[in-house]
Amino acid sequence: MRKLVINGGKPLKGEVTISGAKNSTVALIPAAIIAEEPVVLEGVPDIQDVAALIEILNDFNVKTEYIDGTLTIDPTEMKSIPMPKGKIQSMRASYYFMGATLAKFGEGVVGLPGGCFLGPRPIDQHLKGFKALGANVVDHDGAIYLSTDEEGLVGTKIYMDVVSVGATINVLLAAVRAKGKTIIENAAREPEIIDVVTLLNKMGANIKGAGTSMIRVEGVERLHGCSHTIIPDRIEAGTYLSVAAAVGEGVRVKNVIFEHLESLIAKMDEMGVKMEVGEDDIYVYPSTNLKAVNIKTMPYPGFATDLQQTITPLFMKANGTAMIVDTIYPKRVGHVPELNRMGAHGKVIEDIITFEGPTPLVGAEVAASDLRAGAGLVVAGLMAEGTTKISNIEHILRGYSNIVEKLQALGADITMIEE
Ligand code: EPU
Repeated sequence: MRKLVINGGKPLKGEVTISGAKNSTVALIPAAIIAEEPVVLEGVPDIQDVAALIEILNDFNVKTEYIDGTLTIDPTEMKSIPMPKGKIQSMRASYYFMGATLAKFGEGVVGLPGGCFLGPRPIDQHLKGFKALGANVVDHDGAIYLSTDEEGLVGTKIYMDVVSVGATINVLLAAVRAKGKTIIENAAREPEIIDVVTLLNKMGANIKGAGTSMIRVEGVERLHGCSHTIIPDRIEAGTYLSVAAAVGEGVRVKNVIFEHLESLIAKMDEMGVKMEVGEDDIYVYPSTNLKAVNIKTMPYPGFATDLQQTITPLFMKANGTAMIVDTIYPKRVGHVPELNRMGAHGKVIEDIITFEGPTPLVGAEVAASDLRAGAGLVVAGLMAEGTTKISNIEHILRGYSNIVEKLQALGADITMIEE
């Protein structure tokens, strides 16, 4: 089993460059298969989720080439192969193959998603959207069976009962080749949705309104090849901003889009973290005398659920009681008991998380319950006196490109070991 070993308490200094966004990439890759020609994605992060998606593409008879962050996806000989079990279940985002295979073949069989356990993660809104477009949807033995009648998919108006990134993207994928117009109301507005729509439009789709809560899609007959550069990962950027505020002695986080990070920056500002925002970078000054704040996660542009676990260690450097309410995933609390093993005073009462600070952290053996909890433990490990050993790091490697190398370059004492 691989583990991360961190000897904490060392000040970090220098620059770190943010990779392409994981949550865009895992949608862009399935989106690319709808084209009838090769699609080139630039800035693809070197993460386990990408490796898993490439294997799934190859199982679909899609040719791929991945060199230095450039992924070429050639779907010209893709086959409609049912995938009720196996690799496809290894990651949650493989649910995007539902929308993508519906668009390409008018059918598909996709095993139900795995991924991080953050409490219940239903996909009812995805399925509601497919049905509204005229697909037949059967949920059987852990897989979703999708088919269409002779008429194929037909555009319609779909109101999303909850604001969902996954459902918005999945229904968009299905709708790009549907006959006529589809309108998605109460759509999610995350930057990753705009990124997927940018790719689809470059492929010849006709989509308007991405980034607002109403997206309109005019179906087209075919999609062609193109090339596209993925947006920077705002969650990875947010994680390194927390690292910089926690243990930095002057750290520049490069390749960021400030607008995507406004809710996090506002909170860090409220805590007293000193930052300087450049054109596409953010410089974080050494931080002392931080103040505890309250955080409520919301759909974009609210505070991202994916950043609540990674900012939490900063509360150990802050005076007062910090309170976190995660309205997206109220059960996303896996980091709390592990941080407590390191000396934190965290409580979870009726899904409300509180931390008392300041609290010195000490190294301990801890386990990553999910991707962002794991990243939070890395931040805590860098802060702690002594050695922290993190297990279950597969979660972390699913989503953070070269995390060990990037932190080492900043001066961190972190290694990956096999135990
Ligand atoms: N929801 C439903 N029904 C649905 C879909 C969602 O009730 O059909 C609920 C969910 O239970 C949740 C809320 O709607 O309470 C929002 O979920 P959403 O569908 O937006 O989440 P997702 O698309 O499954 C993506 C990211 C997550 C991120 C969430 C929220 C990807 C691959 N995953 O998940 O990222 O937390 O949006 O922003 O894009 C991560 O990166 O660590 C991660 C978990």
